[in-house]
Amino acid sequence: MKSMATQPKPAEDDELLFDMSVSFCGIKLKNPVLAASGTFGYGVEFEDIVTIEKLGGFVSKGLSREPMPGNPPPRLWETAAGMLNAIGLQNIGAKAFVEEKLPLLRKLKNVPVFCNVYGTCNEDYEETIRILNDGEGITAYELNVSCPNTQHGGMTFGADPTLLAEVVTVAKKAATRPLIVKLSPNVTSIPQMAKIAQDAGADAISLVNTFVGMAIDVETRKPRISNIVAGLSGPAIKPIALRMVYEAAKTVTIPVIGIGGISTAEDIVEFMLAGATAVEVGTANFWDPCASERLVDQLEKWCLEHRVQKISELTGGMLLS
Ligand SMILES: Cc1cc2nc3c(=O)[nH]c(=O)nc-3n(C[C@H](O)[C@H](O)[C@H](O)COP(=O)(O)O)c2cc1C
Repeated sequence: MKSMATQPKPAEDDELLFDMSVSFCGIKLKNPVLAASGTFGYGVEFEDIVTIEKLGGFVSKGLSREPMPGNPPPRLWETAAGMLNAIGLQNIGAKAFVEEKLPLLRKLKNVPVFCNVYGTCNEDYEETIRILNDGEGITAYELNVSCPNTQHGGMTFGADPTLLAEVVTVAKKAATRPLIVKLSPNVTSIPQMAKIAQDAGADAISLVNTFVGMAIDVETRKPRISNIVAGLSGPAIKPIALRMVYEAAKTVTIPVIGIGGISTAEDIVEFMLAGATAVEVGTANFWDPCASERLVDQLEKWCLEHRVQKISELTGGMLLS
């Protein structure tokens, strides 16, 4: 897919000036497409294959106070229209990210870097954020209270109203940058958790993380994933994620970032019409490492074809009749 710069120009009387930018929490992105946490490494690994500057931004792999080894393999399994993963938050730790990755990322001008933050207790989240506060060139934090693949922390926070309120309060107090809280879909009521995150100080929410699932090899009778249970992502989850984004956006007044199974421009438009201000693209990066960049091009084309001059006007624009 060619970028708009190389697309044939429309006829003059048909010419449209259109604006792909979106803004939330005082952050202006050139377009609403972010690469999702855990599917785009620390950004720098994609430098040679993706024009990262074309993206609205990217979210780092979940960062913890100390480096984490993750779960033993096998950690990935492809399912019908989706993928199970139980990476277990393998990461280099917040300090190494600030010292080793951020200086490289600063050379990639104009790419907003969102840091995904993970912890096993409130103090972990607080300390990780404090380490990242010293880093230069971070746009915002995304609080991962929704990882289903670790024994402690992660989803435990996102699935318990009291723990969620506490960790968001602590994180907000520590953060010197906007705080996005990433919600778990593995809850009874998304509106309830979205409201709790907002009331505890979240500047925005993002959803969804993966759905808890599993797969068994019937020949060996062993689980496909060493952790037994894992997180389901990809196109299989899109309709459920879309419904949850819609429910959350109806409930809160803070911006909502939509995530879950996005692989086409139309998917992005759907999430925006349901109430998302921006979106994150995850599993699609696994079968096409250029997916996020391709989607920026395809979204521009979609806007041109549909005469949408200001993409931000799509947010919450679903018509009921
Ligand atoms: C291999 C893998 C690793 C992930 N790691 C993280 C992570 O570190 N932190 C996080 O908040 N979400 C993580 N996620 C969840 C994604 O960011 C995203 O929320 C989820 O996969 C749904 O989007 P998708 O269907 O587009 O993949 C991971 C997902 C995958 C597939």
